Amino acid sequence: MSTKAACFFVLVCATAPLSAFAAADGPRLGKPATPEEIAAWNLTVFPDGKGLPPGHGSSIEGKAVYEHHCAACHGSNGLGGSAEELAGAKHSLTDAHPDKTIGTYWPTATTLFDFVRRSMPPAAPGSLSNDQTYAVCAYLLTLNAIIAESAEMNALALPQVKMPNREGFIRMDVAK
Ligand code: HEC
Repeated sequence: MSTKAACFFVLVCATAPLSAFAAADGPRLGKPATPEEIAAWNLTVFPDGKGLPPGHGSSIEGKAVYEHHCAACHGSNGLGGSAEELAGAKHSLTDAHPDKTIGTYWPTATTLFDFVRRSMPPAAPGSLSNDQTYAVCAYLLTLNAIIAESAEMNALALPQVKMPNREGFIRMDVAK
């Protein structure tokens, strides 16, 4: 047998059993995720509103949600709690001591929905219904004087909200 043929033979012997094993048996770890499991994790909401679920809520409803689920840490009216202040900025981002609140910093209202849905309240993320999440976002946007108290937030309205710092970020995904 020539050296070339010997190499080929060795290669076939070495790889064939491995690939056969991988295809037939797999590592036998875990199980395929069900569509429901994937949906529960696949929570990303994009600036254009893609990923927002059905539902709606207003600031008035959101105030009750906020006081029950959020105020203990974020303070009444989004101020004065132990966690981040969510409203009431006195200094803009260009001041020497800027206030980074939803009103001064966040570029899109859809990100607010994404963040609250996936992580707040910290002890029970995902526990708010979609309606409660829309409502509490509406309330926080009202506290920051970005939308009127009467405005209802839903999958169509939320992406339309013009955040004060919308143009303050450098986009990384602009098509060339
Ligand atoms: C147990 C205390 C606690 C509760 C209750 C709580 N939060 Fe928070 N929240 C935090 C902490 C701590 C942070 C900062 C976490 C971080 O930045 O990773 C935070 C961050 C946030 C932020 C991001 C602030 C920023 O500018 O970075 C938002 C928005 C928010 N929370 C909304 C809510 C809403 C809405 C609720 C009620 C549904 C809520 N939180 C309930 C503790 C809490």
